[in-house]
Amino acid sequence: MRLVLLGAPGGGKGTQAKKLIEKYGIPQISTGDILRASVAAGTPLGKEAKSYMDKGELVPDSVVIGLVKERVAQDDCKKGYILDGFPRNIAQAEVLDKVLAEMGSPLSTALLIDVDKDVLMKRLTGRRTCKNCQQMYNVYFSAPKKDGVCDKCGGELFQRDDDKEETIKKRLDVYDAQTAPLMDYYKKKGILKSVKGTGSIDEIFNQVCNIVEGK
Ligand code: AP5
Repeated sequence: MRLVLLGAPGGGKGTQAKKLIEKYGIPQISTGDILRASVAAGTPLGKEAKSYMDKGELVPDSVVIGLVKERVAQDDCKKGYILDGFPRNIAQAEVLDKVLAEMGSPLSTALLIDVDKDVLMKRLTGRRTCKNCQQMYNVYFSAPKKDGVCDKCGGELFQRDDDKEETIKKRLDVYDAQTAPLMDYYKKKGILKSVKGTGSIDEIFNQVCNIVEGK
């Protein structure tokens, strides 16, 4: 399974990817997570990326494409992988296709998690993530038992720097202008599937599994 998860910020790509990892034992490649780790580590790449991420803009293709090329060639990706947050525009999608064609392992599915815009703001402003185990919560939809503390491991919960209302608006605009055209791109390639991203996380996951298993 070589899967791309598509969808607006807050659509639930990360949430579903975590469940797919557990069920199918393949890695999630989240460019957002890789970039945030570089920011936290204070690497030169992280410093460059932070200025774009804080504004809700895309990090330059030259930075992101290199990261993904390296990652999909690693051993643990031989059984497949879930790309989450990449590609983000047509240029990234074209390079990805070229790289995968050279490796003889094209994408199997591009899956859109489709959520109406009015839901996204609450999903993003309410999101909290565990610093320790990365478990995700939402203060509106799936709050932790104790404020600011992870139910699973007792770790501290944090709010992402780009989950502020103004930055979210910019991220949604960038999605419409640069990422949404990927739906047509993958439709033309005959690999686009979609699932409604509202309802319970488990209900959505069942549909996701049916799609990736070709049921
Ligand atoms: P990235 O980290 O990729 O963020 P994003 O695409 O904006 O997506 P999110 O992680 O915000 O949302 P999600 O769909 O994963 O939703 P989640 O599952 O968390 O990118 C961040 C930045 O990095 C970009 O702005 C850019 O600067 C840079 N970047 C990254 N990739 C790049 C690239 N390829 N090129 C250039 N720049 C790049 O869910 C959200 C919330 O909703 C959570 O609280 C969750 O608990 C809740 N939730 C999920 N599902 C449900 C449900 N069914 N019901 C109720 N609540 C739910």
